[in-house]
Formats: sequence, structure tokens, C-alpha cells
Amino acid sequence: MTEFPLAGQTALVTGGARRIGAAIVRRLHAAGAKVIIHYHQSHREAVALALELNQQRADSAFLVSANLLQTDLSVMMQQVLAYDKGLDILVNNASLFYPTYLEWDVGAVQALMQVNAFAPYQLALLAKAALEKRQGAIINLVDIHAEKPLRDYSVYSQSKAALRQQTMSLAKELAPQIRVNAIAPGAILWPEDKAALTEAQKEALLTMIPLQRLGRAEDIAQAVLYLATAVYVTGVILPVEGGRLLVK
Ligand SMILES: NC(=O)c1ccc[n+]([C@@H]2O[C@H](COP(=O)([O-])OP(=O)(O)OC[C@H]3O[C@@H](n4cnc5c(N)ncnc54)[C@H](OP(=O)(O)O)[C@@H]3O)[C@@H](O)[C@H]2O)c1
Repeated sequence: MTEFPLAGQTALVTGGARRIGAAIVRRLHAAGAKVIIHYHQSHREAVALALELNQQRADSAFLVSANLLQTDLSVMMQQVLAYDKGLDILVNNASLFYPTYLEWDVGAVQALMQVNAFAPYQLALLAKAALEKRQGAIINLVDIHAEKPLRDYSVYSQSKAALRQQTMSLAKELAPQIRVNAIAPGAILWPEDKAALTEAQKEALLTMIPLQRLGRAEDIAQAVLYLATAVYVTGVILPVEGGRLLVK
């Protein structure tokens, strides 16, 4: 691989201001891409990241803000496509993660489905014509729990299962012009807020991972770069989980 395999390309990363999204933005940018950092609440982090990257290469990072709970994302996509008059890579990374137990909370259920499954679908459809012109790629961030449901997180698991199936479905529908793949992370960064774990829960989780540690955000970013450049790979769900799927 050349040092800058993505030179001349433009990538949109949703939820790109912090955590795994920011690592993906940095990796794609280091590979030569111009990056469009989408954010919702993390304005300060997004501005700081864009400044850092634009200092490295002028006019190489651009910001777009949108709430993915909106059911019409066409204005967001117009802003994205205006930046470089097109798009090569769409990374659907933004996500909601919280338990829903077995309670029917319509707002909580709709929000998980909207942000984790419907927004990526709408963005893929809105970007389709632009991605086709550049033989582009879509990369979705799913989860090992799309395959192996997480207790108390049934709706989250269902939303990621929908995104997993969406990946395979769109790979078939959008071929041969657009490749569509996904990464299924295991435990990478501990969840925050409503989903935060106790130290005992973290210990118990680590013992279930054959590689006996958390992954790093950079491990996910490296997998994104691989899928962005793997021109004969489509419809694949790539686990990056330290072997967690091998254990019951
Ligand atoms: N962390 C892990 O160990 C792990 C494990 C398995 C799978 N994954 C998957 O990997 C991806 C990245 O994980 P992460 O832990 O870094 O994600 P995260 O911190 O939970 O969320 C990423 C971003 O999603 C954005 N987002 C949430 N709701 C939004 C909304 N309504 N509108 C617009 N943006 C919204 C937020 O952007 P703002 O901050 O700008 O609002 C947030 O920073 C996710 O798809 C996640 O499901 C992660």
C-alpha cells in the first residue's frame, strides 16, 4: 500500500468528533483523505479536531452538524456533498447505546432504531449517486451484539442487527459501483453515562475475551482503512473483538 492510499478522496464520518469516530477521522486523514467530521453535541471536540487536521494540511477537514434523530437528512447530505463536490467514503459510526430492558418506551425504542439503523440507511441512499460516480465505499459500525444479543440491551442489539443486514443488503443492491462493508467491534472503549459499567462488571467482561484486554479505537480505525481500500471486498462483516465471538 502506498503511504497515502486515500489521497484525492473525501470521507464522511458520522459521530466523528470523539472516541472511536475521532480515531477513524485521524486514520483516514493520515492516509491522505479529506475528512468531513459530522457531530451533534460535541461541538468543542469537533472544532478542535478540524483545527488540528487543517493545521497539518490546509482545507483537509470540514465540519457538519446534524441531529440524526431527524427523519430528513437531506440538508445534511447537501452540505456534505458541497464540500468536495462529491464523496468517496461514508462511515456510519454515530450510535446510541443504552439498556431498554423489557419495557416498552416508545421514545427510547424509536431513537435507537433511528440513529443506529434508519439514519445510516437514509445517508446511504442520499449519497448513492455521488458514491457511484467515484466507485465509493460505505463502512458501517455494527457490534458483535448484532449477532450475539446483549442482555438488557435488546433494542440496541436489534438496531445493530438491522444495520448488519442493511450492510449485506446494500452490498448486493449497490454493486458493482459501491462496496458496502461493516466492522463489528467487541469491547473497545467502556460505555459512558446510562450504560457505564462497575469495576467488577469490567473485570468479568475482560475475562471473556481470549486476548484478555480491550481493543483500541485505533484497531477499529485500521479496519476502516482496510475496508476503504480493499477493492475486491464487499458485503463483509469484519469482527474486531479480540476473539470474543469464540467464547459462549
Ligand atoms: N465503544 C465500544 O467499545 C464499541 C463496541 C461495539 C460497537 N461499537 C460501535 O462503534 C461505534 C463507535 O463507538 P463509540 O463508543 O465511540 O460511540 P459513542 O461514543 O457511543 O457515539 C458516537 C457518537 O454518536 C453520535 N450520536 C449519538 N446520537 C446522535 C444523534 N442523535 N445525532 C447525531 N449524532 C449522534 C455522538 O456525537 P456527538 O458527541 O457529537 O453528539 C457520539 O459522539 C458505534 O457505532 C458503536 O455502536 C463501539
